[in-house]
Amino acid sequence: MSESTEVEGRRFPAPEALAAQANVGPEVYEEASRDRLGFWAKQAERLTWAQKWDEVLDWTNPPFAKWFVGGKLNVAYNCVDRHVEAGHGERVAYHWEGEPGDTRTITYAQLKDEVCRAANALTELGVRAGDRVAIYLPMIPEAVVSMLACARIGAVHMVVFGGFSADALASRLTDAGAQVVITADGGYRRGAPSALKPAVDDAVSRVEGVRNVLVVKRTEQDVAWTEGRDLWWHDVVGRQSTEHEPEAFDAEHPLYIMYTSGTTAKPKGILHTSGGYLTQVAFTHWASFDLKADSDVFWTAADVGWVTGHSYIVYGPLANRATSVMYEGTPETPHRGRWFELIQKYGVTILYTAPTVIRTFMKWGEDIPAGFDLSSLRVLGSVGEPINPEAWLWYHQNIGGGRCPIVDTWWQTETGAHMINPLPGVTDLKPGSAQTPFPGISAKVVDDEGNELGDDTTGLLVLTEPWPSMLRTIWGDDDRYVDTYWSRFGKQVYFAGDGAKKDADGDIWLLGRVDDVMNVSGHRISTTEVESSLVAHPAVAEAAVVGASDPTTGQGIVAFVILRGSAEDSGEDLVQTLRQHVARDIGPIAKPRQIMVVQELPKTRSGKIMRRLLRDVAENREMGDVTTLTDSSVMNLIKDKLPASA
Ligand code: PRX
Repeated sequence: MSESTEVEGRRFPAPEALAAQANVGPEVYEEASRDRLGFWAKQAERLTWAQKWDEVLDWTNPPFAKWFVGGKLNVAYNCVDRHVEAGHGERVAYHWEGEPGDTRTITYAQLKDEVCRAANALTELGVRAGDRVAIYLPMIPEAVVSMLACARIGAVHMVVFGGFSADALASRLTDAGAQVVITADGGYRRGAPSALKPAVDDAVSRVEGVRNVLVVKRTEQDVAWTEGRDLWWHDVVGRQSTEHEPEAFDAEHPLYIMYTSGTTAKPKGILHTSGGYLTQVAFTHWASFDLKADSDVFWTAADVGWVTGHSYIVYGPLANRATSVMYEGTPETPHRGRWFELIQKYGVTILYTAPTVIRTFMKWGEDIPAGFDLSSLRVLGSVGEPINPEAWLWYHQNIGGGRCPIVDTWWQTETGAHMINPLPGVTDLKPGSAQTPFPGISAKVVDDEGNELGDDTTGLLVLTEPWPSMLRTIWGDDDRYVDTYWSRFGKQVYFAGDGAKKDADGDIWLLGRVDDVMNVSGHRISTTEVESSLVAHPAVAEAAVVGASDPTTGQGIVAFVILRGSAEDSGEDLVQTLRQHVARDIGPIAKPRQIMVVQELPKTRSGKIMRRLLRDVAENREMGDVTTLTDSSVMNLIKDKLPASA
């Protein structure tokens, strides 16, 4: 029997000591299903409301939901001030560690002062409730402070991951209509300062409407300066008062926009609002990880530029008064034990990360974690892609010491918070399966017609009831919101875009995307977006991109390109040029792992590229059915062109 089959059959019961003191017990499922809206209303009581809601959910105009209708709150007040007022000002909010080893310890009281200063600064710059502020920062505390400052004054933040290109930033600035950009001179990445400001200068020069660029000094790199537009953070924020009166906003007031890849080249601005979002991120953070605010040290090892960072570095942990670790750099800098060193140093008790990182650690070998004291850990989390049973077991044994439950959390940028995951003190764990809809969440597996499937069948994942942290729309494009998520099975059913299987016990296994979206190291990248970038290069006539399975990153990007007649040079130099072109155009995460120059692409009679066949080639498999191809010899031509290693 292979190790994987052995693991798949195994169950890992909730550790007794943990179960005995867990924040939630098995009855939570019953309670939520008896009265779903009452259940969420009870969770909303975890927050401090300036005005209570009149109605928990208004779903009279699906798919446009309103949660906690009539309620008013200030999100930043809930994340910071109320903890200080309750006497927890000295409690650490973040143990921040820079990649070079510099550190900052930020208490809730200090965070409150910083957020108030930044809120005053934004107000001075003319930012008002509803205005959009772009944040393009490395993983430094100012990223959190900026987000909360926006929330405090009702401005809508739009964080763009620092690894995205100037082009990607420019299109997001335009789509969101941002007026102010908060950035830094640079950040530290793999042992060296990496500049950010040049990308902002480039992007801002091409868009309308950005009045000011607020620049945090982090690396002391030289920066170009546009007088009147550019301002140093330490000047403008530094001189502000630490007093700022938070205003209460409507529960449905927009909190942030986060762009994510869809099936077309244009990224979608996912809009999240205030009361429902904060309720679900706070409750899931507390229940999924069994968070004990007084004793845990929580670490989401992700970037704030992704939704995981928004919900589980910033909003969830702060709403729960947690102490978090925040780390600027990469896991291998300056050595491959850096993460384990941080766990040991700060006594991390809960670690939340992605399967791709676990597989990288597996590759580096178990001797590395074995060299550190990881005994503080008690709960582990996983997010971003299915965790294969081998990686699960390795994580369990070599990082969790065989004693920590692994909470595999399925969710999306669109869902805002955890949707399907086991609960650490409740569920008998099955490696590789996200298992159970979170209490108060209704997830089903259906066939192509939307009929619910029984156990032991494979189909499509849908969510059949609205949930508090759901996206409210796609920024500026209600039609696309309806079309993308709520049209396949009608306006009451959310189509997630993932394939799923229910096993004989009714547990859910996620099977990856069913659309043209790739998942590379837990990051969503659209095949169309990479194709558009490739065909924008003068040497390329046509391109087809597929996600091929990859032992470390989950999927790797493989591109097939047809060159223009004038660019017959199909040598290695051109391939490298094209890879760099995509990296520059979209960002390094979108750089194809492999580019194959071909004479033709397999197409159906209606002209659609058959990516399925290209995936077979990229994964070195026997080819599937080719009968719908216009010309079935095309595939032989492609295969003949391939290097032996492909
Ligand atoms: O395919 C699913 C996969 O990631 C997609 C969502 O990507 P994104 O919006 O970037 O959010 C990532 C972080 C929440 C999903 O449609 N996915 C995410 N978590 C899991 C997962 N697939 C399987 N298991 C998971 N735990």
